[in-house]
Amino acid sequence: MRFELEGAIIFSADLAPAAAELDGILKEMEGTVLMKGVPEGEEGPHVGSWKADGPELKLTIVSGRHVRAHEALLRLRKELSGRLGKAHRIGGRAVRIDRYTIEFQVSREPVAEVRVPFASGLEFQGTTARLVLTDVTEDFLSRNYVDRLIALVKEKVDAQRYEGKEEFWEAIWESPALEHTYDMDPTEEMARLGWIQQGPGKGRWFFRPQAAAVIRAMERIALEEVLHPLGFQEVISSSLVPFEVWLKTGHMKGVANEIYYLSEPATRSAEAWEELSDLVKITREVPREKLADLLEVPRAGMTYAQCPNIYWSFQKRTLADEDLPILVYDRTVNSFRYESGGRHGIERVDEFHRIEPVYIGTIDQLVELREGLIERYKHVFNDILELEWRMAWVSPFYLQQAGLAGGETEGADAGDDDRREGTIDYEAYLPYRGSREESEWLEFQNLSILGDRYTSAFTIKAQRGELVSGCSGIGLERWTSAFLAQKGLDPSNWPQGFKEYLPSLPKGFTFH
Ligand code: SER
Ligand code: ZN
Repeated sequence: MRFELEGAIIFSADLAPAAAELDGILKEMEGTVLMKGVPEGEEGPHVGSWKADGPELKLTIVSGRHVRAHEALLRLRKELSGRLGKAHRIGGRAVRIDRYTIEFQVSREPVAEVRVPFASGLEFQGTTARLVLTDVTEDFLSRNYVDRLIALVKEKVDAQRYEGKEEFWEAIWESPALEHTYDMDPTEEMARLGWIQQGPGKGRWFFRPQAAAVIRAMERIALEEVLHPLGFQEVISSSLVPFEVWLKTGHMKGVANEIYYLSEPATRSAEAWEELSDLVKITREVPREKLADLLEVPRAGMTYAQCPNIYWSFQKRTLADEDLPILVYDRTVNSFRYESGGRHGIERVDEFHRIEPVYIGTIDQLVELREGLIERYKHVFNDILELEWRMAWVSPFYLQQAGLAGGETEGADAGDDDRREGTIDYEAYLPYRGSREESEWLEFQNLSILGDRYTSAFTIKAQRGELVSGCSGIGLERWTSAFLAQKGLDPSNWPQGFKEYLPSLPKGFTFH
């Protein structure tokens, strides 16, 4: 690593009276103040050239990775202020960096352009990156943006490695192949029979009584066969997630492009809104440009997954030993994801219904809990819904949701040898998509243990020892899709176990 800085320390008065001493002082500091923290035998920063120009000390500094040039500049300001203050009543007011060139190594030669904010130049020669910053403020330095910028370049170069690669996937378990007599797309069939209606708006569905009954039966099965027997307690969260929460979970850097943002009115004053009301009365349309002027820029969005707010609710708490593991679920809040091109049927939508269990405890407690969850889920999918399905280790969902590179090695690492952490996906065969060997199966559920990433982000502590956490996504539309795609829409063909949860369908409506 090499840091080359051109900048200045701006003093409170003309430096002319102190000019004669400066050379000596700077030389001395190179051997003392600037060497603090540099390991034995390693290079410290050097002042290359300097010039007193009125109240400005213009200088260049070159350094390696120990006491980087910008840190050296700040140290010089402090030290020179002390010395010149005593002798000449001159104090250092500010620092300025006109040009900062940073050279560092990246893991591979980039195959495509790498763009980062703040940089006025970024070039690569083989695996050497050369980053140029101009007009760097003191604020920028003290907030540690330099290090984060270097980390971002490295991360983006690493991410190129995974682009276009298959996601990590490793089979765990597979149910026997079943014979399927139904091969239609259940969404299309439900729409045809009037069980569902697309909308309002894109990527969402209105569930009429028949479909609502199936979805609620799925919910009762999840609660009564999985969550309540394992001791989960219900919580009710808000649909709104403030940016502070997503800054901690990583969603604001990972999936900002998929969030439904929420704007508050800039004011509640009826007077301010009067013109908009009047325009609506006359035009019978919403004047959206005018509306935009009356809204705040968002500070929050609609729930993307339920776990972030659940972690927030435990933030900065110390959990009682006897409460561990904490087992809770939310089933009230809908999840919103801006899917754009990816929408399909009821299984890939912009708004969906999910029960999300979240668990916080010691790693041993959670590994044991996971065994229990796996057994219970297996019972539901085999004995109640009688599905053809499988389980596989996949890249942990947070890699994507937190904008981290995902791929073969990440997945394998995160699932370490004895698989104490990681994400398991549950996938169901959808006969309407084609053969079981070649078609894409539907991910209808997941189950994760995610280490201490969220407990540490939200400072959730135990009386003693380390806490880890995890969550599982029970997507009710996904369960419904998997079930109906395999069993069809005729209740007389549904398995006995499911009929016990839904003995008959409501009759719904006929439209003329
Ligand atoms: N939070 C997890 C996910 O988003 C489980 O729902 O997949
Ligand atoms: Zn979650």
